[in-house]
Amino acid sequence: MKVVVIYYSKTGNTKSIAEVIAKRSKAKIQPINLVEKKGRGTEEERQKEVELFELALNEGKYADLLFIGTSTSFKKAQSKIRRFVKLVETKRIALFCTYTKDLGITLTELEDILIERNIEVIGKQEFGGLKTGQYKELINEEKEKYIEKAERFAEFCLKKI
Ligand SMILES: Cc1cc2nc3c(=O)[nH]c(=O)nc-3n(C[C@H](O)[C@H](O)[C@H](O)COP(=O)(O)O)c2cc1C
Repeated sequence: MKVVVIYYSKTGNTKSIAEVIAKRSKAKIQPINLVEKKGRGTEEERQKEVELFELALNEGKYADLLFIGTSTSFKKAQSKIRRFVKLVETKRIALFCTYTKDLGITLTELEDILIERNIEVIGKQEFGGLKTGQYKELINEEKEKYIEKAERFAEFCLKKI
């Protein structure tokens, strides 16, 4: 059984959650953006991101379960994740996102796209209360709450396949 975690993270919060989910589900993990990129980035960085996107599409094709994670940007998913969800050919998807206090349509919009495309969405989970770059600064007790939630989500999704 092949499980893959694809994510978009700008300041590391979604990356940290993605890592917990990947560890719990023994999944291959792959970002579709460069976390360290500043602004639009260099030509080389943009090329690298194009490659990451293609790689992620390819990984999705052979997955039995594909987790897709995004941070929330102006109450929506990152546009690259929206594009990914419109293109990926895969069997079943579980969606997750991180946000500070208002996730808006981040997950529901992605789910609607997938329903339209007849791709099964087996789970959805949001991780709120995270300001930009905050996860790595949290005290262990706070981190543990997110870790437990992410592990429970992974287990819930794994049971469904
Ligand atoms: C440009 C920008 C827009 C954001 N928009 C929202 C928003 O609409 N709602 C919200 O709750 N958080 C918003 N956030 C906060 C991030 O979604 C949140 O900190 C997230 O965990 C960041 O994840 P990352 O570190 O993986 O990039 C925004 C952050 C940035 C930088």
